[in-house]
Amino acid sequence: MLRKILKWIGGGIGVLVALILIFYFVMHIVVNNKRAKTYNVEVRMFDIPSDSASIAEGAHIYATKGCGDCHGEDLSGKIFLDDGMVGTIRAANLTSGKGGRPANYTDRDWIRAFRHGLRPDGKPLIIMPSYEYCKLADHDLGSLIAYCKSVPPVDAAPASIKLGPLGTVLSGLDKLPLIPADQINHLEKYPQKIKKSVSVEYGKYLTLSCTGCHKPDLKGGDNVIPGGTPVRDITASGNIGKWTLSQFMNVLRTGATPDGRQLKNEDMPWQMTKNYTDEELQALYLYLKTL
Ligand code: HEC
Ligand code: HEC
Repeated sequence: MLRKILKWIGGGIGVLVALILIFYFVMHIVVNNKRAKTYNVEVRMFDIPSDSASIAEGAHIYATKGCGDCHGEDLSGKIFLDDGMVGTIRAANLTSGKGGRPANYTDRDWIRAFRHGLRPDGKPLIIMPSYEYCKLADHDLGSLIAYCKSVPPVDAAPASIKLGPLGTVLSGLDKLPLIPADQINHLEKYPQKIKKSVSVEYGKYLTLSCTGCHKPDLKGGDNVIPGGTPVRDITASGNIGKWTLSQFMNVLRTGATPDGRQLKNEDMPWQMTKNYTDEELQALYLYLKTL
C-alpha cells in the first residue's frame, strides 16, 4: 500500500516536473519568436542639427532621461542588470568606437531606434525604453541624437542580452517590457516642438520620464520589478498635495523628503532628476498639483 502511494506521488512529481519543463520550453520559443520578428514601419524623417547649442541641449536631455543608467556617462554602455534569475543585460555602446554603433548608422537609424524601438534591419531592440522616448518632440529628439553623434568614440563590448529563467517566463507572459516595439503605436504623430516654460503643458510633457514607474495616471502602485519598492502616488492626492514647491524641488534633487525619509536612488532615480532645471521642476510641480 505504502509503496503504491509513494509510487503514485513520485509519478505525480514526475508529471509536474515534465509540465514545468514543457512550459519553460514553450516560453523560450515564444520569447525567441518575439525577438526574431521583423517590423515594417515607415520612419518619418526630420533634420538632425549639429550646432553646439543643440548638442548642449541634447546633453541635458541625455542626463535627465536616465540614459546614463544603462549606457553610462560616456555612452559606451554598461551591464545595468546582472541577476541570475532575471537576466544579464548590457546596453549598447552608442559611440563610434569598437563594439559601438555600426559605422554606417544613419540619421534614419537613430530616429528608428527612438521612435520605433527597432534596429536598422527592422528587428526589435530589447529592453531599450523607446516606448517612452518615442514621445519626445522632434526638436528634443534631434538635439539628443546630435549629442549622441558628437561624443568621442570609446571601445567597449557591444550590447548583450541573456535572459535568466524568470526573465524568460515573465517576458513570455508579457510581464516584462522586453520588446518596446510592441508597446509603440508606429503610426502616431509626435509634436515638432514643445515650448519650454513653467506651464502645465510642459510639466505634462516632462512626466514622460515618470509614468513608466509611477503608472500612466501617476498614482503609483506595484513596482515593475517583481518585489521592488512600491511606487508612490505623485498626484495632488499624495504628498505633492502637501509639499511646497521648494520641498518638492529638494526631494527631486536630494532624495530627502520633508518627513525625514531618504529615498534610495535605486528606487526613485533622483540622481537623474537632480539635473532638472528650476524651470523643469516648477513645470512638473505645477502639472502634478492639477491631478
Ligand atoms: C533600461 C536601460 C536603458 C535605458 C534607460 C536606455 N537604453 Fe538605450 N538601449 C538599451 C539596451 C539594452 C540596448 C540594446 C538593445 C538591443 O541590442 O537589443 C539599447 C540600445 C540603444 C540604441 C540602439 C543602438 C543600436 O546599435 O542600434 C540607441 C540609439 C540607444 N539605446 C540610445 C539611448 C538613449 C539616448 C537613451 C536615453 C534617452 C537610452 N538609450 C536609454 C537600454 C537602455
Ligand atoms: C525607476 C522608477 C521611477 C522613475 C522613473 C521615477 N520614479 Fe519617482 N519614485 C519611484 C519609487 C519606487 C518611489 C518610492 C520610493 C520610496 O517610497 O522609498 C518614488 C518616489 C517619488 C517621490 C516621493 C513621493 C513621496 O510621497 O515620498 C516623488 C516626488 C517622485 N517619485 C517623483 C517622480 C517624478 C516627478 C518622476 C519623473 C520626473 C519620477 N518620480 C520618476 C520610482 C520612480
